[in-house]
Amino acid sequence: MVIQQQVATMKAIIMRDFGGADQLKMEQVEVPIPGPEEVQIQIAYTAVNPVDWKIRTGLLQKRLPHQFPIVPGWDAAGIVTAIGENVTQFQVGDDVFAYCRKPVIQWGTYAEYICYPAKDVAYKPANLSFAQAAAIPLAGLTAWQALFDAAHLKRQEKVLIQAGAGGVGSLAIQFAKLAGAYVITTAGKQNHEYVKSLGADVIIDYRTQSTRDEIKRIAPDGLDVVFDTLGGETLKESFAYLKPEGRLVSIVEPPNQELAAKFNVHAQHVFVSPNGPELQHISDLIQAGQVQPIPVQEMPLEKAAEAQELNRQGHTQGKIVLRVH
Ligand SMILES: NC(=O)c1ccc[n+]([C@@H]2O[C@H](COP(=O)([O-])OP(=O)(O)OC[C@H]3O[C@@H](n4cnc5c(N)ncnc54)[C@H](OP(=O)(O)O)[C@@H]3O)[C@@H](O)[C@H]2O)c1
Repeated sequence: MVIQQQVATMKAIIMRDFGGADQLKMEQVEVPIPGPEEVQIQIAYTAVNPVDWKIRTGLLQKRLPHQFPIVPGWDAAGIVTAIGENVTQFQVGDDVFAYCRKPVIQWGTYAEYICYPAKDVAYKPANLSFAQAAAIPLAGLTAWQALFDAAHLKRQEKVLIQAGAGGVGSLAIQFAKLAGAYVITTAGKQNHEYVKSLGADVIIDYRTQSTRDEIKRIAPDGLDVVFDTLGGETLKESFAYLKPEGRLVSIVEPPNQELAAKFNVHAQHVFVSPNGPELQHISDLIQAGQVQPIPVQEMPLEKAAEAQELNRQGHTQGKIVLRVH
C-alpha cells in the first residue's frame, strides 16, 4: 500500500521574474518547516518597504543573491506555530515580530508562514496590534543601527533626519529624542504636525525652504550627525551641513569618500541587519510607552502589487501594512 503524505500549502505572493507590479501573483506554496534553530511564524501582518519594489525591479540583483520563485517581504508580525528542536526562548502561541531577511532572497513574508532563526525574533509589544507591530522591525532596526551603531549619536548633539514622516524617519526621530539629541527633520507641509508629534525640534519644509540655509541658521557651526534617507543630490549636499569630524550615515547609497575627506567628516552606508536583542529593546521601549507606534495604512495581502506601487510614489506617512490572516 502506498501512503500519500499530505503536503500543507499556504497562500503567498510570488514573483517569477524581475519587472513591474504585474509580476506579483497570489499562489499556493508549501508551508515551511522550522529548522532546529528556527521558529515557524503564522504571519498576521507584513509590511511594505521600498526595498520590496527595489528587489522586484531588479535593483538589488548585484548586491544580494536571488533565487526565483521569490516571495517578497522582510517584516512579519504574528504567532509562533511551531519551534525547532533547539529553540528554548519561544513557545507555540507566543506573539512575535521579526525582520526576516535571509542570506538568499527567496522566501519572504508576503505569505501565511515563515520560518526564521529564533535568535533574530522578538516578542511583539503587547500594546500594539499585529498591524502596528508589522511596521516596526525593518524600519526600527534601520533607524537604531544608523543612529547608534554607526553614527554613535549622543545627548545634546544636533542631528538632521531626512524624510521624518517615512517609515524609518518616524522611528528615527523618536529614538534620537529619547537619546537626548536635538532633532531637525525634513517633511512636506502636510506632515509637519505629524513629525512635530514625534518630537522633532525643527521641521524644514523641503518643498519651500532651503535645507542648506535653514541648517546654517540653526547650527552655524554645523551638525554632529546627518541621517540620509534620500540619497542622490540630497546626500551630496549633506557633507556641507556637518561640523568637522561630524558623522554622515546614508541608508540609500555609499557616500562619496572624496567628499568625506574634503569636508573632514566620517561617512558610511548602513544596510540593516537582523538583530533579535536590538529588536527586543525597541519592543520594550514601545511597550513602556517611550516610543509611539507609527501610523499604518492597512491593505489585504491580495493587494500587494497596488501597495508596492503606492509606496513607490514616495509619500507614505508611516507604513503600509498587508493583512495576511
Ligand atoms: N539600507 C537600509 O538598510 C535601508 C533600510 C530601510 C530603508 N532604506 C531606504 O531608505 C529610504 C527611506 O525608506 P522608508 O521606508 O523610510 O521610506 P518611506 O516610508 O516610503 O518614505 C516616505 C516618506 O518620504 C518623505 N519624502 C519623500 N521625498 C522627500 C524629500 N525630498 N524630503 C523629505 N522627505 C521626503 C515623504 O514625506 P512627504 O510626503 O512629506 O514628502 C514620505 O513620508 C528608501 O530608499 C529605502 O529603500 C534603506
